[in-house]
Amino acid sequence: MELIEKIINKAKKVKGKIILPEAVEDKRVYNACKKMLKDGLTEIIVFGKVDDFDQDFKTKTCTIIEIEKDARLEQFASQLYKLRAHKGLTLAQAKQLVLTPAYFACMMLYNGEADGLVAGAVWTTANTLRPALQIIKTKPNKSLVTGIMLMVKENCAPLVYGDISLNVNPTAEELAQIAISSAEFYKSVVSTKPRVAMLSYSTNGSAKSELVDKVREATKIAKQSNYLIDGEMQGDAALDSTVAKTKFKGSSVAGKANVLIFPDLDAGNIAYKLTSRLAGYTAVGPIMLNFNKPVNDLSRGCTEDEIVLTACITKLQIK
Ligand SMILES: CC(C)(COP(=O)(O)OP(=O)(O)OC[C@H]1O[C@@H](n2cnc3c(N)ncnc32)[C@H](O)[C@@H]1OP(=O)(O)O)[C@@H](O)C(=O)NCCC(=O)NCCS
Repeated sequence: MELIEKIINKAKKVKGKIILPEAVEDKRVYNACKKMLKDGLTEIIVFGKVDDFDQDFKTKTCTIIEIEKDARLEQFASQLYKLRAHKGLTLAQAKQLVLTPAYFACMMLYNGEADGLVAGAVWTTANTLRPALQIIKTKPNKSLVTGIMLMVKENCAPLVYGDISLNVNPTAEELAQIAISSAEFYKSVVSTKPRVAMLSYSTNGSAKSELVDKVREATKIAKQSNYLIDGEMQGDAALDSTVAKTKFKGSSVAGKANVLIFPDLDAGNIAYKLTSRLAGYTAVGPIMLNFNKPVNDLSRGCTEDEIVLTACITKLQIK
């Protein structure tokens, strides 16, 4: 697919080292790493003993780290302790945590010794993201990390769905941030003007409830940005121009939305899986937005190609 090829080619030109900490634990990650090294897609960092890896990993573009023997453990523990002492973390606990791949990887990112992290083929979302949320934090101008999905299909305009993986029940302010961040992502990666629909079971005041109020309030906040954002609207009003003409006349988004913002994680997660199963879209992601350094969480059902693509998107997120 054209967009996927574009992402891979663009990523190849970005300099950066991506940590893939699960290569020894998971054959798909191992093979994805081999492919990336062979195709010269990125420099990588893997965790394990040198003997865990075959000859293809023994190149200048791959760094193998045996965490238990790493000289930076003391430094990382003391830094983590300073970062988290106010949350009750003790130095002894910090020393234990930096021995775990997820925390060690985040400390490398924190110290600028790597540029991105891709994990989650084996680890749960919570175990992958919690250390990053605690240590890497958000970009200075953002206060919320959000997980979105890029939905692609041959001969169809790409779509972005948000939030589909992290924020369980966002407030109106959080929903507005998800909308703006998703629009920024669409603009930078798809290179087309984003049109953001704030989705609901109601269109432009057709129903009234607290659920609708939240989406209306989020729309009001998000509209203060320079992006084309409109709502609240139903899925058909967002995507079908005939329905849009009857239900939401005059909207600059209705009927031609390419960024769909869901009111909560139930709706977003269910919607992307149905779109993929019933309409044949390929779901690329989850892609995490707004981390201070790129961290992406793989789906545990991911394929080798999806791991490669996620690493490429991670490279595009390097500033
Ligand atoms: C990821 C997740 C586990 C984090 O929750 P948690 O472990 O309970 O962590 P907390 O709520 O204590 O937050 C930990 C830190 O992350 C921060 N944080 C949590 N969510 C955040 C977000 N969306 N953006 C920015 N920071 C966030 C908190 O502010 C906190 O920071 P602090 O400790 O410095 O104060 C939780 O959001 C979650 O379970 N989300 C759903 C994920 C899921 O199951 N997805 C399945 C579909 S793929």
